[in-house]
Parts: sequence; structure tokens; C-alpha cells
Amino acid sequence: MNNDLSAVLFEENVIRMRIRELGTELSKVYAEKNPVLICVLRGAVVFLTDLMRHITIPLEIDFMGISSYGASAQSSGSITVKNDINIDIKGRHVIIVEDIVDTGLSLRFLIGHLDILSPASIATCVLLDKPEAHKIDIHIDYVGFEIGNDFVVGFGLDFNEKYRNLPYVGILKEEVYIEP
Ligand code: PRP
Repeated sequence: MNNDLSAVLFEENVIRMRIRELGTELSKVYAEKNPVLICVLRGAVVFLTDLMRHITIPLEIDFMGISSYGASAQSSGSITVKNDINIDIKGRHVIIVEDIVDTGLSLRFLIGHLDILSPASIATCVLLDKPEAHKIDIHIDYVGFEIGNDFVVGFGLDFNEKYRNLPYVGILKEEVYIEP
């Protein structure tokens, strides 16, 4: 185990199984709908690439970049678009793919941003949800796992751009992100 972690929260095989379940569910719900999966850079890339391979119906993918928290472990609350989508989603069924929902502010911003483009529907699919950290009332349609209020990394999630390549999700030791 990486020495910066206090625990492994979800092993690789557990994540894989859950993503397969989500893919099966989405394949049923979106059959004949040719959905557009919109991956929120950068953390959700790992989740997207696994999820899309477990979806057995035609789909398209696109990417969006929004302002990140940078080196801070806390949300600044102010969000801007860095890279917008390229596909015209008017009349399309959109699934926003996120790695984690913390305060919920990013997801709310994304839904608002995409909604003005008149998609047929918008759903949200999130690998990890931290209900205790929500600052707003937000509905998530598809959740991989609910987690507690720990600082988690791996499987796309970073701290200072590190740990994204860990194939599992772990809890970062406080001493790594809290300055003495
Ligand atoms: C993470 C995550 C979400 C957001 C969730 O992104 O991918 O976009 O934070 O937090 P919230 O619910 O408090 O808004 P981050 O800004 O760390 O960028 P990254 O995906 O590039 O790591």
C-alpha cells in the first residue's frame, strides 16, 4: 500500500464489479437513446474509460473541463468552464460522469451549464458520493459508492495532481494534506 494512505477504501476488483453493475444498468435505461457521456476532466477519466466499456449500447463521449480546487483540499465555491464540450447536445440524452461529489457545487454548475443547451435529459453518474459534505441539496442518479468525509485519492482522484494512477481508492493520511 502507498505509504501516504491510511487505508484502502475500495480495492480494484470491488470498483470493477460496481462499475460493471452501473454499466449494465445504464445499458438498459439508455437502450435506443444513444446517450452522450460527458466526462468531467480530469479526475473522472479513469471512471469513464472503465464505465463506457461496460455499456453495451451505442454512445458518444465528450469532455468538459472546469476550474479545479488546485492545491487546496477545500472547494473555493467559484467555478468556471475551462474546456467546453464539442458535441451539440440539443435533444440528446446526456449523462454527466464524475469521479466524486463533495460539496455538490461542481455538479450543480455542470447541470446548469449543460441544461441551457436544451438536451432531452441530463442524468448524473458519480463513482463516489460524500453525502455528509454536500453544501446543497443535489440529486445524483447513479452512484458507485457512498463514502464518509475522508480525503480520498486514487482511481483518478488526486491531491496536488498525485495519486491519480492508483488502481484503487484510498484514504489519504491527514499529515499529507494538512500543513503542520
Ligand atoms: C473534483 C471532482 C469534481 C469536484 C467535486 O474535481 O472531479 O469535479 O472536485 O467537488 P464538489 O462537489 O465540492 O464541487 P477537482 O476540482 O479536484 O479537479 P480534477 O477532477 O481535475 O481532480
